[in-house]
Amino acid sequence: MSAPSFPSQLPAWQALREHRRAAADFRLQDLFARDPGRFENFSLRCGDLLLDFSKNLVSTETLRLLFDLAREAGVPGWTARMYKGERINSTENRAALHVALRATGPVLFEGQDVARETAQTLARMRQFCDGVRAGQITGFSGHAFTDIVNIGIGGSDLGPALAAEALAPYTSPQLAAHFVSNVDGAHLAGVLSGLNPETTLFVVASKTFTTLETLANARTAHEWLLSKAGDGKAAARHFAAVTANVAAAREFGVDPAWTFEFRDWGGGRYSLWSAVGLATALAVGMDHFDQLRAGAREMDEHFATAPLERNLPVVLGLLDVWYADFLGAATHAVLPYDQSLRRLPDYLQQLEMESNGKRVTRDGAAVDYATAPVVWGSPGTNGQHAFFQMLHQGTQLVPCDFIGCCQSHHALGGHHEILMSNFFAQTEALMLGKTAEEARADMAAQKLSAQEIEKLAPHRAFPGNRPSTSILLKKLDPRGLGLLLALYEHKVFVQSIIWGINAFDQWGVELGKRLADRILPELTTGAPIATHDASTNGLINFYKANR
Ligand code: F6P
Repeated sequence: MSAPSFPSQLPAWQALREHRRAAADFRLQDLFARDPGRFENFSLRCGDLLLDFSKNLVSTETLRLLFDLAREAGVPGWTARMYKGERINSTENRAALHVALRATGPVLFEGQDVARETAQTLARMRQFCDGVRAGQITGFSGHAFTDIVNIGIGGSDLGPALAAEALAPYTSPQLAAHFVSNVDGAHLAGVLSGLNPETTLFVVASKTFTTLETLANARTAHEWLLSKAGDGKAAARHFAAVTANVAAAREFGVDPAWTFEFRDWGGGRYSLWSAVGLATALAVGMDHFDQLRAGAREMDEHFATAPLERNLPVVLGLLDVWYADFLGAATHAVLPYDQSLRRLPDYLQQLEMESNGKRVTRDGAAVDYATAPVVWGSPGTNGQHAFFQMLHQGTQLVPCDFIGCCQSHHALGGHHEILMSNFFAQTEALMLGKTAEEARADMAAQKLSAQEIEKLAPHRAFPGNRPSTSILLKKLDPRGLGLLLALYEHKVFVQSIIWGINAFDQWGVELGKRLADRILPELTTGAPIATHDASTNGLINFYKANR
């Protein structure tokens, strides 16, 4: 009998459909009451990272069925294929070998040791970073660089920007890192306004070196420098490139000695670990960048070898499948209780939604189940004073990831304890809620009238039973950040295998780019436009009349 072509036809999927009826009655408090060892049984560790998934709407039986689903969908086999460098990105005929970017031993890709090639690039990066940081590599006037500006977008921006900010305590005070992504001139102008061209180094990061926004920003940055440096040769001393398209970088005018290559088997949103991390490495130094890669490697080894039941990315991926496909959750909140992980929700939006925002299986058949949920969030405690109201009392189920650290880099008296007490309290409040009786008792203690108590009780009661997953790092150091990001990378991969989709292409972003190319010249012609639908014509013509 041939295997079902759809995950939703797998026996475990069918069993989970049945099981969700039982799950409708799950009360987290009852699950904890029934199993005093629930925290120990429903939490896992990898290195200094703790994953507590005990406050999720799952029983031992739910997990058993989810692990069956992982097996039936072929998660271990697909993982092995990814690690072996098979061209699992079938629509682009590419491998997805980000694990090779942090490997220490050889990784053979079609007979070639790609880890060796990566090591050579990393060695060149080290030389460059050391030279810049020591003031030996300088700009046109011989002054040491004081500022790095990474120009890139999507995967060529989000990872390095997140890492540079998260690892700010490890940065050199002599070298500030800035990140320009948006083609809105306000972004570049805002960054350049505070900089001295003589001491500014640009890193143009683009896998394809054809991305419109990045090239527009890089050209403007080049003009800005040229106006101070006087000639192209002097300006060239201020540009490095990170790309898979070395020829295009050369054509732009970047010295091949300052061009750092990565290969097309490293997807943009999985590329922080490659030369794409150059701006981060310049900011934190190559030793810290290596520790970041070492953290990711530790998670890679865990993902490849731990049994499904003890495997952190597998558990995290399965929980999301459970919520999206069986309990109807359309969104997922990411709540870092660490200001330096401010950019994590943005980073995960690309990682998860560009990877798994797909509507057809690997074979091209339209799926009949939900794939990637909307990922959103912002740091705690800010979010508590903005959208947590909806998490506690709204009508939608929103599984939440809380992410925090045991140790803080900032010894401001008591702040870290206040922050973390809120982390723990929110996960508890989401679970416990507050009954109408408890609300009434509170109000009685506050001496409210019986009439007021009755009126307010429904508004002041919370249903509770809202799920959350907690991730605690010992400390937000380079290794810990590597563990965390690789955990999410592999989680996204697990989900893609369950959903039977290709996580490594992104054709959905192409159409808009093509249409923008067509519209761009229309914005500068005098005559009104009539080449689109009525709405698009109307918008363009209103814009032209009012610019
Ligand atoms: O448009 C989407 C995308 O291709 C992302 O996948 C990628 O990270 C981003 O654009 C930037 O691409 P590049 O690194 O080639 O400039």
